[in-house]
Amino acid sequence: MKLGVVSESRPVQSSHPSAQYGYADEPSRWNPRYWRKRVWAGIAVAIVIIIVIAVPVAVTQTRSDPYPNYVPLNYSLVETYEGESFFDNWDYFTGYDPTHGFVHYVPREHAQQLNLTYASETAAVLKVDTSVGPNDEPNASTGRFSVRVTSRNTYHEGLFIFDVRHTPYGCATWPALWLSDPYNWPDNGEIDIMEAINQADDGNQMTLHTTSGCRMNVRREQTGEGLQSNCDHAENQNAGCGVRGPEESFGPRFNDNGGGIMALEWRDAGIRMWQFARDAIPADITGGNPSPSTWGTAASDFPSTRCDVGSHFRNSSIIINITLCGDLVYAAYGDSGCPSNCTDIVSNHPEVFTQAYWELGPIQVYQAA
Ligand SMILES: *[C@@H]1O[C@H](CO)[C@@H](O)[C@H](O)[C@H]1NC(C)=O
Ligand SMILES: *[C@@H]1O[C@H](CO)[C@@H](O)[C@H](O)[C@H]1NC(C)=O
Ligand SMILES: *[C@@H]1O[C@H](CO)[C@@H](O)[C@H](O)[C@H]1NC(C)=O
Ligand SMILES: *[C@@H]1O[C@H](CO)[C@@H](O)[C@H](O)[C@H]1NC(C)=O
Ligand SMILES: *[C@@H]1O[C@H](CO)[C@@H](O)[C@H](O)[C@H]1NC(C)=O
Ligand SMILES: *[C@@H]1O[C@H](CO)[C@@H](O)[C@H](O)[C@H]1NC(C)=O
Repeated sequence: MKLGVVSESRPVQSSHPSAQYGYADEPSRWNPRYWRKRVWAGIAVAIVIIIVIAVPVAVTQTRSDPYPNYVPLNYSLVETYEGESFFDNWDYFTGYDPTHGFVHYVPREHAQQLNLTYASETAAVLKVDTSVGPNDEPNASTGRFSVRVTSRNTYHEGLFIFDVRHTPYGCATWPALWLSDPYNWPDNGEIDIMEAINQADDGNQMTLHTTSGCRMNVRREQTGEGLQSNCDHAENQNAGCGVRGPEESFGPRFNDNGGGIMALEWRDAGIRMWQFARDAIPADITGGNPSPSTWGTAASDFPSTRCDVGSHFRNSSIIINITLCGDLVYAAYGDSGCPSNCTDIVSNHPEVFTQAYWELGPIQVYQAA
């Protein structure tokens, strides 16, 4: 500010030496034929200065824009969840939803009785109860029955292939397919692979949540839209560092197409996710020999550049749940185009939840040799 005032008040007219030559001589100033040695020397010096400044700046920018080496790894299959035994190695969580959902998570027997988890030869289904209406006993006046399952096996790194045939959506729903160590959260991190709320019209959100020291304001190679860049759960009200996919990556438009494959590659170099529609699944995935290096740009890329992935993410289970209402849904309900209020819909309108189910084909876990 001060500098600007000083230069404005400076007399401009007579300060330049060329003023003494008058108008007739003006054109010669712009004609190189009349330039003196001094002028040529000035130009040469300017060019040298530009080179001296520009080269190191370019080099520094390349250095400050590093990217991890995602060298191809050789993956082999270590585990598959599929068929009628799909739910055999999972625990059913029955506590309160930590994000204040209006939901009652039921144990395995109750879930089977209500048919909220169901596994056949070809598919596993997890759903929200639609059998209980306002005049039933029990009713849903304190929350509706739903399920949350946690794999007993825990993982550190690997390539995870999820065959997702139907994603849950509908007013008041908050489904998620994620990896975390719930007993050591956030120390061991959280990797959200699929997540949406209400009608799921904002697409799929892929997000990391961590302790401090994990940031994504670095070079990334992804097709999704980066949201917050700080993954620290203590910042931005635990929004995490999210990446949003296109509208057809979750909900009705994803399901209409028969769903598709969600792939997660979790390794020290970084965490990347891809989504493939049913009619665009790479042959190496169907062939049981997946190789992410051949899949093109990821949907989301969380490189290790400013985040030590190896220490922020550990000992994680696969978790699949459908919460109803809850912090994020309450906050967005007014803008969601959904009727009434969230708890009223959950308590009194079982018909709203007919699309609130996951249908999954096999989940395969590959590990690098
Ligand atoms: C993967 O396997 C190929 C051939 O089987 C081998 O040449 C290559 O070095 C392996 N790569 C790694 C990272 O182990
Ligand atoms: C279930 O999913 C939601 C959405 O990701 C998550 O915020 C919540 O903490 C999960 N867990 C439980 C117990 O509901
Ligand atoms: C349980 O749910 C599955 C999947 O939605 C369905 O195919 C099956 O018919 C249901 N079983 C009963 C007894 O309702
Ligand atoms: C819902 O169930 C509770 C007990 O679980 C009962 O006290 C209440 O009257 C019921 N509500 C209706 C509308 O039936
Ligand atoms: C790993 O996770 C399991 C299950 O969630 C938990 O019981 C265990 O304490 C964790 N172990 C470590 C070393 O964090
Ligand atoms: C939600 O809607 C119901 C039915 O219209 C109403 O009785 C209830 O007071 C509302 N609750 C809130 C928190 O607005």
